Parts: sequence; structure tokens; C-alpha cells
Amino acid sequence: MRSVNIGICGLGTVGAGVFNVLGRNTNIINARANCEIAVTQVGARRDNPSCDTSGVAVVRDIFEVAKNPAVDVVVELIGGTTVALELVMTALRHDKHVVTANKALIAAHGAEIFAEAQSRNRIVAYEAAVAGGIPIIKALREGLSANRIHWLAGIINGTTNFILSEMDSKGRDFADVLVEAQEKGYAEADPTFDVEGIDAAHKLVIMASLAFGMPLSLDGVFTDGITKLEPQDVSYARELGYAIKHLGIARQTDEGVELRVHPTLVPESCLIAGVNDVSNAVMVNADAVGTTLFYGPGAGSEPTASSVIADIVDVARTLASNPDSWVPPLGCASSALQSQKIIDIQNIETSFYIRFSALDKPGVLSNITKIMGDAGISIEAIIQKEQPAGEEYVTIIILTNVTKEKFLDEAVEHIEQLETVRGNVNFIRVEHLDQ
Ligand SMILES: NC(=O)c1ccc[n+]([C@@H]2O[C@H](COP(=O)([O-])OP(=O)(O)OC[C@H]3O[C@@H](n4cnc5c(N)ncnc54)[C@H](OP(=O)(O)O)[C@@H]3O)[C@@H](O)[C@H]2O)c1
Repeated sequence: MRSVNIGICGLGTVGAGVFNVLGRNTNIINARANCEIAVTQVGARRDNPSCDTSGVAVVRDIFEVAKNPAVDVVVELIGGTTVALELVMTALRHDKHVVTANKALIAAHGAEIFAEAQSRNRIVAYEAAVAGGIPIIKALREGLSANRIHWLAGIINGTTNFILSEMDSKGRDFADVLVEAQEKGYAEADPTFDVEGIDAAHKLVIMASLAFGMPLSLDGVFTDGITKLEPQDVSYARELGYAIKHLGIARQTDEGVELRVHPTLVPESCLIAGVNDVSNAVMVNADAVGTTLFYGPGAGSEPTASSVIADIVDVARTLASNPDSWVPPLGCASSALQSQKIIDIQNIETSFYIRFSALDKPGVLSNITKIMGDAGISIEAIIQKEQPAGEEYVTIIILTNVTKEKFLDEAVEHIEQLETVRGNVNFIRVEHLDQ
């Protein structure tokens, strides 16, 4: 049996998972790869007590792994975009293939990395970079390759999904659940990347690149997090038959591509509305297959290792099957990618959920419906919540039909100027995900 030698850089949460699963399932993994996958070297700043590395050469300098002539595949699991970029480029320049779980690196520097890989006929694989253990990259790149993809929509950040699930099921505040998420290790000490939607934007860009054949770029992605969501919106949405999910949405239209990450009302009848806690799910709508849903653990040591090892197996099988003239697997060629216009959020069409406080007296609602009508927005439902005792103002909730966001913004501005309306008008986009 041929042997393919790998070097693992980074022995943290994912690195340890990869090391341990490779050790535990050696025979089955080797049989599937049709070769022996040997961990030749590990680069780690310090030992990880959950890994028995006694039979493996461990070095403290990860760049030794990237330059080691005995290593065929470098597995980058250190995270970040500075040293990781240098490490991956060094590995490629030393003619290594690369496997990474690093979405920030691929989203921000993918173009440069793939260009280098292509010029050297090397593979860069990144299944674990999106949705952890769910094989969504393979699905988009291979399983759905017959299809023209219309749109995809995903819960692609487990931390925000956990927070929203808790707000929904227990009526808790965002800030309160965030503290618990940090205590449970779901959220980083600095949770900005997760709760502001940046991590989801990275993953969305990677999926859109594969789905629509466009270059990797974060430019133009509309990104909004969950920090401003209030528990009352989560419960009002439920009363109306919707769940609020933090979605990454990419849609091909005649005018260009929509790329947006934001809280979204989704009908309860939609499967993705039932995806809770730290789970991830991605819906893909395409012309031949229709709508598919990919669901599973979006993070964690061994679920993520499952995807990293799938890439290692892919690379090893490719190398072992034809060592002298192998062909990179689908999706490697960056020359075929075509830029597309990214549609500004103002020109995106969705329905909206709107909430505000207004004086409970005759004529107020008709003023508001007139403003909406003048902006060309038709109303699907309007609800006035019961007024608490002694309170002059009532909560009004409006569900609109599909309209452009710029028309909604115009109406919101006018409504906020009414003397009968108190405070800001809050709105959340609504997606039915049915076509
Ligand atoms: N955790 C998940 O569930 C998950 C899911 C999908 C994708 N990912 C991605 O997987 C990658 C790794 O994440 P992780 O959760 O495993 O992170 P982690 O637990 O922080 O592990 C990173 C490891 O890399 C080491 N490291 C960092 N810089 C290094 C350097 N210059 N030299 C040597 N070692 C270095 C760190 O060592 P020290 O401990 O000494 O700092 C740490 O052991 C990231 O790109 C992440 O986005 C993670």
C-alpha cells in the first residue's frame, strides 16, 4: 500500500480531533483512501493532554512542517489570517498540498492561495471551513454539480443559533444568553465575529463562490448580527407563526448576486426553522434537484475533524491513485471563476416584519397605512397588541408583502417622524424560502 504523509499544524480543539480520529479509525480511513495515511509530523507550540503524540515527531515551529521534504500534505489548524497565510503559502511553495478548516483565511485570502496552488498543481481543500461537520462544500462542488443553483440559505454560526434558540424557548435576553454561551465554550471571550455576523459572512462567501462560480471576496456582503434583537420580537414572531434565525443568504438574480447575513423571520413550517441550539443547516435550491437541506453539527472537535479528514482522504486518494499525473479534484480551477455584481441591500426585495409604538387613538393606523401605500408597500397583516393598563401607547406589528428595502426605509423614516409614534421603528427581513 502506498503511503501519503501528513503534517498537522496546530493541536488545539480541531487539531486534537483530527489527530485522535485518525488514530482511532486508522484502518477504515486507510481503506477508503486506498493508501496509508501517516501522521509524519505535528507542529504544536505545546502538548495537548488529550493527544498521545509519543509515536510522532512533534516540533514547536510549525514552519518546519511546511518545509519538511517528507510531508506531502500540510493540515493548517492554527486559525487566524496572518501566520496561517504565511504557513499555507510556505507549504504550497514547498510543493505541499494543503487542508485547512480556516474560513477567515479562505474568505479573505482564498484568491491568492488558490492562484499559488494552481500554479504549482497543488490541492487546497477546506471542507471544514463551512458548517463544521456537514459536508456542504463537497455537496456544492460535486453532489450538485449538475445544477444551476438559484439560492442557498444557511444557519452557519452555531453560537448565534444557540443564543437565538435560548431567547426563543426561554424568553431570555441576548446579553444574558451570551454569558452562558461563553461559559459553555460556544462563544469566544471576544464574541464579535460570531454575534456581529462576520464569521457567517466568511462562510457565505465561500459557499457563494462554489455555488455561482464567482471569485472569493468579502466586498459588498451585507452583514448584520443579532446584538440588537429583542426578546419581544422573537415572541411576536412566534405568535405570527415564524421563528427568527440568523441566516446567510446568497441568491442569483438577473441583476447580480445577493450576499447577505442578518436575522430573518422564517415560517415555522420551513424545516430550517426547527434547527436549534448549536446545530447548523444549509438549504440549497437548484434547478434540477429542487430544494435540499444539509443539517448537522456546525462545530466541535470531532465533527470538524470529520470534515478535515474527509479532505485528507480526498487528497490522499487522488495522490495514491495516479501519483505521476494526477488531476486536481473539481472546484480547484480559479481561472473559470467570473465576477458578478453584488446587489446593494437597498435594492434587495423581501417581506418585512415591522414593530413600533404608537398612540392608541383614531386615525393613527390609517396615517401609517397611507405612508406604506405611498411608498408602494402592500401590507399582509397588521396587528395591534393589547394595551397595558395605564399605557397610552400600543405596540403595532406589520407584516409587509415583498418590497425593495429602499422603499421600506423611506416608509420607516416617515413613520418615525409622526408625532403619534414613539421611538424607533424596528424591522426584520422575512424569507419564505419556498421558491
Ligand atoms: N473549533 C471548531 O469547532 C471549529 C469548527 C470549524 C472550523 N474551525 C477552524 O479551525 C481552526 C482551528 O480552530 P480551533 O478551534 O482548533 O482553535 P484552537 O483550539 O485555538 O487551536 C488552535 C491551535 O493552534 C495553535 N497555534 C496558533 N498559532 C500557532 C503558531 N504560530 N505555532 C504553533 N501553534 C499555533 C494554538 O496554540 P496555543 O494553544 O499555544 O495558542 C492552538 O493549540 C480555525 O481556523 C477555526 O476557525 C474550528
